Amino acid sequence: MASKSRWATDDDPETEAILAQRKREKDEKRRAKAEKQRQLDEQQQARAQQESDPHPKKRRRLSNDHEQDPSITTTPTNNTSTTTHESTILPFPTQEWGPCRNVSNFERLNHIEEGSYGFVSRAKDITTGEIVALKKLKMDNSPDGFPVTGLREIQTLLEARHQNIIDLREVVMGDKLDEVYLVMPFLEHDLKTLLDDMSEPFLPSETKTILHQILSGLDFLHDQWIMHRDLKTSNLLLNNRGEVKIADFGMARYYGDPPPKLTQLVVTLWYRAPELLLGAEKYATEIDMWSIGCIFGELLTKEPLLQGKNEVEQVSKIFALTGPPTPQTWPDFRSLPNAKSLRLPPSSSASAGNPPLLPRGKFPFLTNAGLHMLSSLLALNPGARLSTKECLAHRYFREDPRPKPKEMFPTFPSKAGMEKRRRRETPEAPKRGQEAPKLDFASVFGGQGGGEAGEQGAGFTLRLG
Ligand SMILES: Nc1ncnc2c1ncn2[C@@H]1O[C@H](COP(=O)(O)OP(=O)(O)O)[C@@H](O)[C@H]1O
Ligand SMILES: [Mg+2]
Repeated sequence: MASKSRWATDDDPETEAILAQRKREKDEKRRAKAEKQRQLDEQQQARAQQESDPHPKKRRRLSNDHEQDPSITTTPTNNTSTTTHESTILPFPTQEWGPCRNVSNFERLNHIEEGSYGFVSRAKDITTGEIVALKKLKMDNSPDGFPVTGLREIQTLLEARHQNIIDLREVVMGDKLDEVYLVMPFLEHDLKTLLDDMSEPFLPSETKTILHQILSGLDFLHDQWIMHRDLKTSNLLLNNRGEVKIADFGMARYYGDPPPKLTQLVVTLWYRAPELLLGAEKYATEIDMWSIGCIFGELLTKEPLLQGKNEVEQVSKIFALTGPPTPQTWPDFRSLPNAKSLRLPPSSSASAGNPPLLPRGKFPFLTNAGLHMLSSLLALNPGARLSTKECLAHRYFREDPRPKPKEMFPTFPSKAGMEKRRRRETPEAPKRGQEAPKLDFASVFGGQGGGEAGEQGAGFTLRLG
């Protein structure tokens, strides 16, 4: 009996099943192959796009792609060769660390500050053509190593990525080990130089735009547990697009809760909070808020608000503006080291409110809401001072006139961009490592009368040491 061919009959159900199974397997294989090809095509397309797009949206930072990524901070030395991308070699993800570029990659255009500063210049990145500011770190006071202020400046700036904080692009080196430069975008103005040159103060709507941006940047800093400790108009930069950025992190540092014991010798005298002047060893973000109050006042009047010649006079000027502290307005002030020698006037007429409102006559064009915010920033008692969040939510920013949109902000000719300049003599931040002076405030309230070296305050006389 002839055996039945396996292929002989199409109608054999078993054979049919086998054939169908084979067909399914074949189709499956074909589909898998097509899918693999599609994936390969996709990968190739993505690679080609990455090579042609200089600003990919999201990717890991790579040490060898610094030309495209401006946010990178450390880059290899030899950066002058242009990338051709003719090969399809995949980028090799190395760690971010690498040798810093040399400052010779930048063409120095002009000094921005001469005189007491003298370390910031406008420069052009030869590779990209971008105009930047180069800040040479001060290496004095650190004969045996990298200065801690420089380290803090780099460390805090790297943490503080925010649209209202200056962007540290890169750190570059000179030929010697002590030549370290910070590369930052160039901004046309600092608020101090600009205010000095303006014939009229900013409009109320412009003041609000500026102040709101400073507060936004500072709010971010405080959220990151960073105190700036040297807020003043010369450390606030403004570009011709109405954008404000907080700069100069030379005094900045991290703090904790409870606040650690810190040096009191921080913040430029005119912007220094009363608790620091009175010797508080523990302080926190409230000291920055006091400086903001001083800056607010300066934006309104175009003149620094409290221009003391020394610490004693500074305290005297503060009390002349705010009224002297009372047990109601500042319960803890007696416990501050330098307050022990302070004699309060016999009848301190406590003005209404806590903190009391500043004299309206000094800020005639400020609204009631504005005067309230200013008075609460310049509250003697740090515990009563407004925080960044309280300021940002303050009705001053919501009432008319509203903050002027940045796009509508006026532009000004940039001194920093064109010529060397010498700033009017203003005090500097204290030098690190200096001892806070022992201060005698015994005569702030005129206990022993004025005398030749006396200084008239509001309702009291100050004798200078
Ligand atoms: N990125 C910048 N763009 C333009 N000018 C700048 C920039 N950074 C600093 N400056 C100018 O240089 C001055 C000094 O810079 P700053 O960082 O405050 O250094 P210092 O520690 O010497 O005070 C500023 O007041 C400002 O005028
Ligand atoms: Mg400065």
